[in-house]
Amino acid sequence: MNEQTFDFTGTMGFYGATNPRKLIADFGSPLYVYNEAVLRARCREMRQLLSLPGFKVHYSAKANSNRELLRIIHQEGLAADAMSPGEIYILEQSGFEADEILYVGNNVGAEEMEYAISRGIRVSVDSLSQLRLYGRLNRGGDVAIRINPGVGLGHHPKVITGGRQSKFGITPEWIPQVKEILAEYGLHLKGINQHLGSLFLEDRVYLEGAARLLAIASLFPGLEFVDLGGGFGIPYHKREGESRLDFKRLKGNLENLLQVWLERYGSEVAFQIEPGRYVVAESGVLLGTVHSVKESYGTRYVGTDLGFNVLARPVLYDAYHEMEAYDAAGVPKNAEYENVTVVGNICESGDILARERNLPRMEPGDLIGVLDAGAYGYSMCSNYNNRLRPAEVLIRMDGTPALIRRRETLKDLSRLDPDLSDTIHSSEGDDEIEVRGARRRAVGGQVF
Ligand code: LLP
Repeated sequence: MNEQTFDFTGTMGFYGATNPRKLIADFGSPLYVYNEAVLRARCREMRQLLSLPGFKVHYSAKANSNRELLRIIHQEGLAADAMSPGEIYILEQSGFEADEILYVGNNVGAEEMEYAISRGIRVSVDSLSQLRLYGRLNRGGDVAIRINPGVGLGHHPKVITGGRQSKFGITPEWIPQVKEILAEYGLHLKGINQHLGSLFLEDRVYLEGAARLLAIASLFPGLEFVDLGGGFGIPYHKREGESRLDFKRLKGNLENLLQVWLERYGSEVAFQIEPGRYVVAESGVLLGTVHSVKESYGTRYVGTDLGFNVLARPVLYDAYHEMEAYDAAGVPKNAEYENVTVVGNICESGDILARERNLPRMEPGDLIGVLDAGAYGYSMCSNYNNRLRPAEVLIRMDGTPALIRRRETLKDLSRLDPDLSDTIHSSEGDDEIEVRGARRRAVGGQVF
């Protein structure tokens, strides 16, 4: 596809029976738009990665935890992994049963661990001290451990979660101590898991990590599952025709490796993976509005309402997202390309969505569609600058849009504050002010 005719969403019918202009008019700008058909297709692709008995796909809820999307993902037969009590809570609200959730915690406190244990959710711990804590809380229980196999991968150093520079997992040298702690607390090790990092398009390191994990699994007879982690990449550079991950090749290579190991291991083990990005990224587009265009010391800025409070990835990781431009009628623009820097509305100079990009000429009032925004988009939104989180809309299978999360209002910005009408003076002559609500919370401790 050459850049003069780039119309990714149009070619695939992403917006169904509607268009970006109508969507913005009805639901406001900025706006996250998801496509149900794409989401379902990605779930199915993932489920076909391995043809081995018991194979399970645990969707990593951190990538996008909109309840309606989770409901669809669950309907497609995926289980889930959670990273916090909040994710467990949202997953359960979306229909996931306790035995469909793996809690892959990192540096969690006793209350959090207790929260998962009390709900019958399997916990994976990633240090010896966390394993001891688990033992104290659930003596004689089932547990899993997260391994750091010494290799990692990812699109940016900040998202590499295996290897020597990573805080995650238990390294192989500590396996004897793991065994001691398991024995001390009578724990049953049911599975081992790992996650090497986020985004690979070439399978070499993933396979190397899998081989290393299997070597460690061999040290523990009777495991029920081995979880190879997520990280499956998507092609963000769509204009350039970046290749997709070769699933056929990955499937062949992985199955060979796993089958040979299974024969030697001697008992049934179910394999799992933990994809986040691959399931949701391409099902989402972030729409925004161009509010100003200007030249400044030789740079042409396209100023939008897409600040890093709405999409943090470009600022955090220099991440690349392909963009489309639409005119006042919502029709894709594809003429008069020019070199522009697309920025948001946040009071920081780093608030840059795309630097020196060749894009169709844009005017105030035009719209921008940021592609592949379904993963780590809304889930990383913030209220920085007291800006409002956008609405989320789902294009249903029949092409009609449905609101799946409303846009925040100004009132939402103060909804967590104590009610100031509830303010009292603590004692006469004392100018200290005490807020009843705050006091109740302080004595009540943390409530989940
Ligand atoms: N499992 C665990 C334990 C994880 O920590 C993660 C992601 C996943 C699975 C899913 O990884 P995925 O398949 O999505 O690559 N915010 C960054 C990505 C951070 C990923 C954190 N962990 C980004 O926007 O690129």
